[in-house]
Amino acid sequence: MTTPVTLQSQLRILASDLAQRAGALIIEGRRTGAGTVDTKSTTTDLVTEYDRASERLIVNALRTTRPDDAIVGEEGTADEGTSGVHWLIDPIDGTTNFFYGLPGYAVSIAAADADGTLAGAVYIPATNELFSAARGEGASLNGHPIHPSTTTDLAQSLVATGFSYQAERRLQQIRRLRHVIAEVRDIRRIGAAAPDLCYVAAGRVDVYFEEWLGPWDLAAGEIIAREAGCITGDFSGGPVRPGEVLAANPNLFEPMRALIRSADEAVAAEPA
Ligand code: IPD
Ligand code: CA
Ligand code: CA
Repeated sequence: MTTPVTLQSQLRILASDLAQRAGALIIEGRRTGAGTVDTKSTTTDLVTEYDRASERLIVNALRTTRPDDAIVGEEGTADEGTSGVHWLIDPIDGTTNFFYGLPGYAVSIAAADADGTLAGAVYIPATNELFSAARGEGASLNGHPIHPSTTTDLAQSLVATGFSYQAERRLQQIRRLRHVIAEVRDIRRIGAAAPDLCYVAAGRVDVYFEEWLGPWDLAAGEIIAREAGCITGDFSGGPVRPGEVLAANPNLFEPMRALIRSADEAVAAEPA
């Protein structure tokens, strides 16, 4: 008897294959430097020739294998589709790390339908780690199931976060973080949102939160975290969205949400 293959498991295999192929391309390219570099939203928001090459590889393959799907890529792809499936691609998540030759960068690919994310893959070439998940089918790292930490105490929790490329927003984020850091074990700024989410999924950090992401930063890592057993949401009781992302092991989700809110109240009471 053959095992039935769901659409989401097929898309997980495809996303995993493409993330690994694009990851191989960018790590090979990085051997001789980051190549041509431009800036985007601010002077610190970088895009390299490898961000574009990675997106091209993924998009060309998707256009061939799934010609009726919609595709959105961070570096400009915006294909409309008719199948009801749409792809979200971050061809290099962690471009600043890539630029400096730090290992914390990834390729992130997700497929979604009207009900949400169907499948996602995040490949970290420097460590040869492939995280993937499909709706209702669990999450894995290099084929082995992953689960979040079991930490129950926020004071013993390692918390990952990130900062916007915009100076005003970064200052707001730091003002909140002054209050958060006093209540947790420590903070990590890994520099790539998709690995941040995968690391919560695998129990390498206990919590991750960030604001002002793009949909491509979030989609694959979020389904990986959720399918691994994490809870995800925004900061005030709503579903997760690029504007506000909180992912945590189930013990820590509500305590962390409360901590973010009390930190924001403390900031609001401070002199401007
Ligand atoms: C960025 C990274 C970073 C996060 C930023 C993202 P990019 O993505 O995920 O960790 O803090 O908000 O924009 O620009 O490297 O693809
Ligand atoms: Ca990104
Ligand atoms: Ca990117």
